[in-house]
Amino acid sequence: MLAFAIDLARQAGQLLLDGLSRQRQIDLKSPYELVTDMDRASEELIVEAIRARFPDHAILAEESGGAFGDGRPTWLIDPIDGTNNYAHGFPFFSVSLALWDAGRPQVGVVFDPTRDELFTAQAGAGAFCNAQPLRVSRIGTLASALLSTGFPYDFGSRDDNNLREFSRVQARCQGVRRCGSAALDIAYVAMGRLEAHWEIGLKPWDTGAAALLLLEAGGRITDSAAAPWHPWSPRAVASNGLIHDELLEVLGWR
Ligand code: IPD
Ligand code: CA
Ligand code: CA
Repeated sequence: MLAFAIDLARQAGQLLLDGLSRQRQIDLKSPYELVTDMDRASEELIVEAIRARFPDHAILAEESGGAFGDGRPTWLIDPIDGTNNYAHGFPFFSVSLALWDAGRPQVGVVFDPTRDELFTAQAGAGAFCNAQPLRVSRIGTLASALLSTGFPYDFGSRDDNNLREFSRVQARCQGVRRCGSAALDIAYVAMGRLEAHWEIGLKPWDTGAAALLLLEAGGRITDSAAAPWHPWSPRAVASNGLIHDELLEVLGWR
């Protein structure tokens, strides 16, 4: 299953690289949320391959929708995580694939084609980047930490838009990055490049694979009340574990 997911993520990633320098068709899903022809092409490639190989599996994919939680093994697919980056040629985006089964992610792959970094994990079998084992960082205080976050696309029309939280955390750490691909951001926490990522409004296709990477790398992911993360958690906090409680405190979420 992992080998199958890796193959798909690599194929989709190559498609994205090939399409990057070409003129793209770009549509708006909402005022500031883009979707490109390459989101659709990448998703089609992945969905068709899964349907052909595992016709009994369910699929929940960002652009074409689908079911989640009907008891069948379910693929959570983000054909481009970081579409707004991709559409501008800003090289920070990924393909994210997870297989959810028996109440948890079993397989997770996040692929960054720009850097040729392939993040993989299997439940109980560890997490890797290009075959190197992943381990979260050992930084134990927010004051010594580098973090990332993201903002919802409807930022301007909601009160609960993460700006207050951003300001609080920024004042207490070595920096908060806003990189634009939540799956890669969380993979970076799993790798120790960042100590934590938090965000409001992430979806199962954003977090499914990255959450498994992080857990397998010794990290922690919860909702805003420190309860275990679920793909539909409206707020997610992913960290190296050591700064988790302090971050929740500073966010003002508990
Ligand atoms: C988005 C990215 C971004 C995050 C947004 C997501 P998309 O996914 O992960 O970093 O801040 O919340 O929706 O739309 O590029 O697939
Ligand atoms: Ca996404
Ligand atoms: Ca996407």
